[in-house]
Amino acid sequence: MLEITLWGKKFKNPVIAASGTFGFGREYNELYDVSVLGGIATKGLTLKKREGNEGERCYETAGGMLNSVGLQNPGIDYFIENELTFMKSLNTVIIANLSGGSIEEYVKGAEKLDKSDVDIIELNISCPNVKEGGMNFGIKSKVAREVVREVRKVVEKPLVVKLSPNAEDIVDMAVSCVEEGADGISLVNTFKAMAIDIYKRKPVFKNVFAGLSGPSIKPIALRMVYEVSKAVDVPVIGLGGIRDYKDAIEFMMAGASLVQVGTANFINPFACIEIVKGMENFLKVQGINSIGEIIGIV
Ligand code: FUM
Repeated sequence: MLEITLWGKKFKNPVIAASGTFGFGREYNELYDVSVLGGIATKGLTLKKREGNEGERCYETAGGMLNSVGLQNPGIDYFIENELTFMKSLNTVIIANLSGGSIEEYVKGAEKLDKSDVDIIELNISCPNVKEGGMNFGIKSKVAREVVREVRKVVEKPLVVKLSPNAEDIVDMAVSCVEEGADGISLVNTFKAMAIDIYKRKPVFKNVFAGLSGPSIKPIALRMVYEVSKAVDVPVIGLGGIRDYKDAIEFMMAGASLVQVGTANFINPFACIEIVKGMENFLKVQGINSIGEIIGIV
């Protein structure tokens, strides 16, 4: 009923744990059997290990949160040697989220991941919390084209590009990435935002800006998923503030073939599994035989 096959990969259901909110699945697997999920996207990986940003990293706001993690991760080699075997044992689709500070770094990272056992590579050109790379590649379509083109040359696995809502023109950005060889588009990552500590009279974050996620961004994310889905002929993964099955169904009706759940995991660690169950029940009650029937129905 919820099963869907894309890029030759069988997803048990369309629900994927979003990058940066699920680690490599270990901690959540202690709470429930995460193999029930459609997939897991790893924390953003870079060629070399990163310690992440100094100072405040997470800050709650009305209807969401700001993060400035700074791509803390153990590096691609460590991931492949120490985390991937465990992740593969989870029997769900494994998506490696790849970040980089330069095109060269993206390409080297992509080469390594392409030779590994990950199922899909999600090219992250949307992290707002690093000085070099990240979202800098995701604002202007012309710049995004270059990195997608170079990474595509070395990747045989399915390549999904994760877009920033801060792109100058989200539709042009998506179309440009597909023209350069992206097999899919995931959107949206976080919105560039900020908070001020009024007692210190200073920004909360050392980098001043941070990424806003959670329910407050959902209607905008939904609109972007709707627009992009109508403009590209590759599968779209929708994300941005999904917290229950109704949100997930909305994104699918807007055109997403899969959804990612991020910030909701921090509020309720069982969010993903509850969304899977909720979607299944919705389909039954509505007399829908297969999830494919509602994708892009709006
Ligand atoms: O700061 C971070 O690690 C965030 C990454 C992202 O938004 O992709």
